[in-house]
Amino acid sequence: MKNHVKIEDTIKNFKDDIYVSGDKSISIRCVLLASQAIGISRIYNLLESEDVINSLISIKKLGINYKKIKNYYEIEGFGLGGYNTKKKITLNAGNSGTFARLILGLLVNSYNGIKIIGDKSLSSRDFKRITEPLKKFGAIIHSNKSNLPVIIRGSEYLRPINYFEKLGSAQCKSAVIFAALKTPGITKIKAKKSRNHTELLLKNLKVPIKVISKKKFDFIQIEGQHNFKSFDYKVPGDISSCSFFLVLTLLSENSQLTIKNININKSRMGIIKILNKMNANIKFKNQTIYKGEVISDIVVKSKQNLKCINCPENLNSSAIDEFLIIFLVAAKAKGISVFKNLGELNKKESPRLDISIEFLKKIGVKVTRKKDDIKIFGNPNLKLKKHYVIKNFRKDHRVFMMSCIAALTLGGNWKIDDKSSINSSFPNFLKILKKLGAKIN
Ligand code: S3P
Repeated sequence: MKNHVKIEDTIKNFKDDIYVSGDKSISIRCVLLASQAIGISRIYNLLESEDVINSLISIKKLGINYKKIKNYYEIEGFGLGGYNTKKKITLNAGNSGTFARLILGLLVNSYNGIKIIGDKSLSSRDFKRITEPLKKFGAIIHSNKSNLPVIIRGSEYLRPINYFEKLGSAQCKSAVIFAALKTPGITKIKAKKSRNHTELLLKNLKVPIKVISKKKFDFIQIEGQHNFKSFDYKVPGDISSCSFFLVLTLLSENSQLTIKNININKSRMGIIKILNKMNANIKFKNQTIYKGEVISDIVVKSKQNLKCINCPENLNSSAIDEFLIIFLVAAKAKGISVFKNLGELNKKESPRLDISIEFLKKIGVKVTRKKDDIKIFGNPNLKLKKHYVIKNFRKDHRVFMMSCIAALTLGGNWKIDDKSSINSSFPNFLKILKKLGAKIN
């Protein structure tokens, strides 16, 4: 079956309100925490994408039942000791680094060896960053060098650890927090700033977790072995999915979009800060606070005179999944944009730093690179006319979506492979584009 799209026309002006799907990070965390709570949790607006479905199928294999009722999922947990790990089972994380890494944290007390496998892209990603700290808790872990498959066998005699998270990785931080939930005593974490949904969820569940927030680091303490009750949660819209529509609107002519009900948690706001520094004028409307998260509608309009940015490095973690689409804006902005210390981008679903550079060069944009720093030489008159084929990007959903936005705003004649990649984070992506008037075959 055909698994590519063809785009031969830029999108015409639009003015509309849209909703994007539920936040992926929060959806996976809700599934995992509900699976460890006592009683039946209800999760509304859960992202129904492959990464989340793989999480649901995996908790089921661990003995946790779930069902979809109307617009919510019910998940019945039996507490922190509630997984059935008597059998040797294999969990398939598919494309999801978040699920694969976080579930390992919750398996530090498993009775038997549990094997985690994933797709080709996930199987080439680094797991040492997770297995090293989890071994210190007392879990026994075998892996294929630093990669999947990983087999984890837990311990009855877990000990709390002191952990320094230096990468700004919320997955590492959260896996350690999850392991700490199972462990007697107090686990202490010093973590470079990264998204804090796990901490906010646990605070709401009244788990003893303390967070002291300093400028560059968070100091976190978790007292383990406290069960928590089931909960209800309404997952807000995902700023990472929203970001493709922000850039679509910015780079189109005479257009305006309100993207409703988006989580604008500060630890995810890099994209907005960066785009506004580039002259974008993106605004918030109807802000509310929900269980510690800040939720808002986001209003964006087309912008002609975008300017380059010397991107502050302290925004890297809060925009980590958005750089592909930010680079596209830099390509159309006036002047030379500078982005530094982006090595972590090459550790994602595909080597995104390498792929971005290749992509920008393909569309005629000058880019220079020194190690993990890049300069993008923007051109406000950038208009494409040639034929572009985008393939071999390890089925990375965000590369696919960024390419569609490039095609719809810059012109040219495009064939973009691996359409099904959107199923891992944003299955409705093409449907929403078409609703806005995009012509996509
Ligand atoms: C995520 C954290 C980030 C991000 C990923 C989701 C999470 O990864 O890139 O898409 O939900 O914790 P790292 O923790 O590896 O930076």
